[in-house]
Amino acid sequence: MLQQKSDFPILSQKNKLTYLDSAATSLKPQAVIDAMDEYYTSYSANIHRGLYPLSERASAEYEETRQVIADFIGARSEDEIIFTRNATESVNLVAYSYGREHVQKGDEIVTTVIEHHANFVPWQQLAFGTGADFKVIDITDQGDLNIFDKNGKLQLQDVITPKTKIFACNYVSNVLGTVQPVKDIIKAVRAINPEVIILIDAAQAVPHLEVNVQDLDCDFLVFSAHKMCGPTGVGVLWGRQDLLENMSPFLFGGDMINEVHIDKSVWATVPHKFEAGTPDIAGVIGLKAAVKYLQDVGLEKISKHEDELASYTREKLHEAFGNALSIVGEYSRLPHVGVVAFTIRGCHPHDIAGILAEEQICIRAGFHCAMPLHTRLGAKATSRASFYMYSTKEDADLFVSKLKNAYSVLT
Ligand SMILES: Cc1ncc(COP(=O)(O)O)c(C=O)c1O
Repeated sequence: MLQQKSDFPILSQKNKLTYLDSAATSLKPQAVIDAMDEYYTSYSANIHRGLYPLSERASAEYEETRQVIADFIGARSEDEIIFTRNATESVNLVAYSYGREHVQKGDEIVTTVIEHHANFVPWQQLAFGTGADFKVIDITDQGDLNIFDKNGKLQLQDVITPKTKIFACNYVSNVLGTVQPVKDIIKAVRAINPEVIILIDAAQAVPHLEVNVQDLDCDFLVFSAHKMCGPTGVGVLWGRQDLLENMSPFLFGGDMINEVHIDKSVWATVPHKFEAGTPDIAGVIGLKAAVKYLQDVGLEKISKHEDELASYTREKLHEAFGNALSIVGEYSRLPHVGVVAFTIRGCHPHDIAGILAEEQICIRAGFHCAMPLHTRLGAKATSRASFYMYSTKEDADLFVSKLKNAYSVLT
């Protein structure tokens, strides 16, 4: 075990929980719950408006998170950090505010078949709405993006053209568990067309890996607090400041505005221009505590721990189910995070998840919001176990042993 289960109060319940669904949402450590609790019990005022001490403190704590996130992902300035509701909203903000103003009929929007719906549907709809071409990069049988030649060298000439306006790609797949070589991909895209705007969906990367937006050289990057020990209800959009400054707001109302007249309104500067209305103040404060928690544990240790656990689980699953088992993305040559999505011949993933649930083992079954990938794989659904810092070998062993029981019931 990397991190004490006792840090996570939900794991101390009377009915012992085996939580293997961290890719859907992570558990929350006491430190995060305490930070949010303190806001509600000690200084629960609205931000940016009150001149009294409670509100000043709430504003300061909220804004401090912006700086913490900027440092965490290597942004040039905290003004490049926008708080949204989740990664999905962050992508939609860019597709709407940037996309609708810059993409036209005949342009190309490029994404991949392995995306979560959050980084697929907003681009698809932008293409449908503007008349742009929607190009989707396919995968090989191993589950790698079809953009490498025989020697593993990136080949994007067929995909990125002078007409490409937007390229949107995940950093880590929530089904295959693979870590895309995004830095190299971005470099290759820019070499073909330096004008392409590149958005990276880092929802499954930021919780596990060191991410640095300047090093990556992307234009936008999105993630969600709830997958990285933080609360639900908070997402992050990082964007290059010059791009953000030239984009129109996504939502209108209070807090995003400097002047309102009957005949015109003047927007606040970034980042506030994109944060209309009262935000999830407690959630943003909780996110700061989550980042501190992750940094204290250490991202490098987290990814090493998960990788070991996932490899161990794959090995045990093969031992148990032989050629009835198929693990998606297993034979990719890319590094993996702690995600193991699989099918077992003769067992429907929903039946597996239902039987395990009776034993307090939480796994996910279905498309995992990645229907184009499942269609491409010819899989109606998969079961997915996903690990995080609090997961243990005992969790993996119990999971495999109860899965064997489920198998004998179902076949
Ligand atoms: C790769 C990826 N992108 C985006 C999302 C969307 O995150 P949210 O539902 O928090 O917006 C998820 C959630 O599972 C994901 O795995």
